[in-house]
Amino acid sequence: MKDKIKELLEEVNIFKAENAEHLEQFRIRFLGRKGLLQDLFDAFKDLPGEQKRDAGQLLNQLKNAAQGKIDLFKESFGSNQVSIEIQHDLSMPVGFNEPGTRHPLSIVRNEIITIFSSLGFTVNEGPEIEDDWHNFSALNFPPEHPARDMQDTFFIEKNPDIALRTHTSSVQIRVMENSKPPIRAIFPGRVYRNEAISARANCFFHQVEGLYIDKNVSFADLKQTLLYFAREMFAPDTRIRLRPSYFPFTEPSAEMDISCNLCGGKGCSFCKYTGWVEILGCGMVDPAVLENCGIDSKIYSGYAFGMGIERTTNLKFQVKDLRMFSENDLRFLKQFESAG
Ligand code: PHE
Repeated sequence: MKDKIKELLEEVNIFKAENAEHLEQFRIRFLGRKGLLQDLFDAFKDLPGEQKRDAGQLLNQLKNAAQGKIDLFKESFGSNQVSIEIQHDLSMPVGFNEPGTRHPLSIVRNEIITIFSSLGFTVNEGPEIEDDWHNFSALNFPPEHPARDMQDTFFIEKNPDIALRTHTSSVQIRVMENSKPPIRAIFPGRVYRNEAISARANCFFHQVEGLYIDKNVSFADLKQTLLYFAREMFAPDTRIRLRPSYFPFTEPSAEMDISCNLCGGKGCSFCKYTGWVEILGCGMVDPAVLENCGIDSKIYSGYAFGMGIERTTNLKFQVKDLRMFSENDLRFLKQFESAG
């Protein structure tokens, strides 16, 4: 058997393919399903043990040499006919297709929607490309007012009236303009700000806005609704606190913190040892905003709040770098498989 292999090795070594067809004949003769190598491997099985080692080595040498010749000439003929036949074995089982998983931001957005739906809030959406009126003026940001600088805006070149919305508060205006109180709705969506991208800031993120307009809506209603939300979203013993703040479209305005859901309020590095973490901005809708939308502020009052979905997701899942949300790294995304 050894002699036979050596003889074939010689033949392979001097082989020169003249064309693709010649090469294919060579391939079938040596490596085909009924080719010489198959015969030799079959015969090899019956060899006495002591002969197997040498013969095995030679056989592998022959196989590699034949394959080497095929690879060499295949390239020079520029034909991939041969390679297709070698690489695509149609009888091979197909690869397993992994099912997709829900994005963590979608998981949290859906959870927010579920909680507020249970309180009777409906869901509306507005455009991401906005005009000055809906994003600023109707919300009590007068032209040239420094409060506009709070939100670094992307303007459409040559038209300062059109911008990418900087917050979902613009949807408040659209909904109030187009419907009559009572209004009880939330507005999830993407917003844009001209920020340098880092672990803590991105040029786009997501918010959910809430709006409730009716007769006799009070700050107590706002507080109770947000406490209910915090306890449903985080833990039944979550506490909230409201700090006075400023937004042009709410009066009074507040920022809401929740007791740190990592340490339960005792103080840890996540809450910078304060026991509290900020979650949203809120307040009573400024009467001037109601009037801007044709709602009589002597009859109606209301509250509004706005939270970042990335921020809420971070509080729930402690994602250290905001950029992970938009990089689509499957190793990151798959960790939320069981959460959604
Ligand atoms: N629009 C504000 C922001 O983006 C949040 C907010 C919404 C505050 C509603 C008060 C009421 O920062």
